[in-house]
Amino acid sequence: MKAVIPAAGFGTRFLPFTKSVPKELIPIVDKPVIQYVVEEAVASGAEEILIIISSGKEAICRHFNPEFELEQRLEASCKTARLEELRSIGRGASIHYIYQKELDGLGGALRYARSFVGNEPFAVLLGDNVTSGERPMLSELLEVYREKKASVVAVEEVPTERVRRYGVIDGVTQDRLLYRLRDLVEKPDPSAAPSNLAIASRYVFTPAIFEELEQTPRGKNNEVQLTDAMRRLVKREEMYALKVRGKRYDAGDKLSFLLTTLEFALKRPEYRDVLLEFMRKELNR
Ligand code: UTP
Repeated sequence: MKAVIPAAGFGTRFLPFTKSVPKELIPIVDKPVIQYVVEEAVASGAEEILIIISSGKEAICRHFNPEFELEQRLEASCKTARLEELRSIGRGASIHYIYQKELDGLGGALRYARSFVGNEPFAVLLGDNVTSGERPMLSELLEVYREKKASVVAVEEVPTERVRRYGVIDGVTQDRLLYRLRDLVEKPDPSAAPSNLAIASRYVFTPAIFEELEQTPRGKNNEVQLTDAMRRLVKREEMYALKVRGKRYDAGDKLSFLLTTLEFALKRPEYRDVLLEFMRKELNR
């Protein structure tokens, strides 16, 4: 299956950092967010990946391109572990790039993937969201796709008072974790929200989504909203939502980025004790 990673957005929530550096290159401990995303796609079986970028975000392409001089330098100084780490970036997939010329939203970005994808189902992973769990989150969705042969989106439970920050689903329970979609609502008022299940940055779509994207007018913020296209698709085809077992982290939001970094760093034995000690001291101040 092919995977598409939209990474063209302005990243206004992370200014001033994102003025010159793509937010998808922000490091979670020592790896850029988008490298985690590519690794999740590869671990889920994607062999062809399209990254959608925009002007000024070419550093994303450079990150996945080999750097022969740097490799030679590491080789000469016998830094074999570093060399291997460097060579493994993006391994397992062939990565392609396309420019989104006008930044008219996530829906607008995905329109650029049509000729790359062709008439096949495909995966979408947002380039500024990382996930963790026992298995790659996308592979959970692909399992549902294989069984249902229908589009499926990842959802996660969020506290009701926070649903206004997300797109949430209106669905009918199929089994413990799977919902058949009736509709989707973008950023609802908590009192009117059909559920507290928020769309969580990973999707598998049938190619019919492209026809709907073409027909979707600009909506909120004058952008082509993917949720609007999905609302059209759900009227036309069966669609599902899977409450994923893994956890997702939005690195495009400052506070969420800080918490993600901390959580990932605490999983690293070389940093854990030092960080815990630091936190203990802070708590006792
Ligand atoms: P966001 O919804 O976080 O939008 O995009 P954004 O514009 O990048 O960020 P803020 O809200 O201004 O801070 C989710 C993903 O979709 C991509 C982004 O790069 C990000 O990986 N995206 C967004 C596009 O590829 N094109 C767009 O026009 C908008």
